[in-house]
Amino acid sequence: ICTDLEGVDPARITVALVWKPPPGFLASLPNLRLVVCIGAGVDHIVLSDPEFPRHIPLVRMVDPGLTQGMCDYVVWACLSLLRRARHYAGEQAKAAWERHSLPPSSARRVLVLGLGEIGAAAATTLQAQGFEVSGWSRGPKQLPGIKTYAGSPDLPTALAQADILVNLLPATPQTQGLMNADFFAHCAPGAAVVNAGRGATVDEEALLNALDAGKISAAVLDVFQVEPLPADHRFWAHPCVTVTPHNAAITHPDSGIHALRRAVEALEAGQPLLNLVDWERGY
Ligand code: GLV
Repeated sequence: ICTDLEGVDPARITVALVWKPPPGFLASLPNLRLVVCIGAGVDHIVLSDPEFPRHIPLVRMVDPGLTQGMCDYVVWACLSLLRRARHYAGEQAKAAWERHSLPPSSARRVLVLGLGEIGAAAATTLQAQGFEVSGWSRGPKQLPGIKTYAGSPDLPTALAQADILVNLLPATPQTQGLMNADFFAHCAPGAAVVNAGRGATVDEEALLNALDAGKISAAVLDVFQVEPLPADHRFWAHPCVTVTPHNAAITHPDSGIHALRRAVEALEAGQPLLNLVDWERGY
């Protein structure tokens, strides 16, 4: 990613493909007509660049490669929880052979929080894997064969009936700290948490307290309030926490390039742009 424009006339830049542009950088390009974000989440732009020229369309990345990666991650996380992967890794280290009866995926209820492009695909993939899946989103959504809940009033009911909570919500002022002590209090006892959305959605202290109290039995976390996760953070050594370094899914250049091309072509043809960020909604 190049933000060093030495030798480049800023006036020649009409389309910018960005991840985390320094605040004010895009506002300094006089002939900018389109901004495409390399990632699915745009919180780092929407919440962090007050100077973003809002009359210029900002397009989120919807890339089949990224969606596939996210589906792979949540299936891996839910199956690891189901099959007690951390436990057996510990047993192997002790050369211990102790068998347990483990439930099938159909006996585990997964609630997917966030049913956008990625959340809907993850919910469908988890269902195909055999889990009993439900979904919760800001506004009503329909997904074939999946029970859906919408809005704050439905959240306690949705939480109470789930064994695994998978967060795929975008980071917005509304989702900031949504998974807090009150949220965990509404969860079924011993529920597990998977966070592949954004770290800002989880109140990390509240999650640690819920884990220590046994209210939440385990967490698989890819995203954090501070990244990289600080070396002294309790998540690293917590026996019930699996940490991955925000690599659940990345945009694949081979497939992501098509999203960029489609956006540029639509702009040139004066057609409506897909996956346009709504600044009011925040994603
Ligand atoms: C990754 O975090 C993304 O937003 O694509």
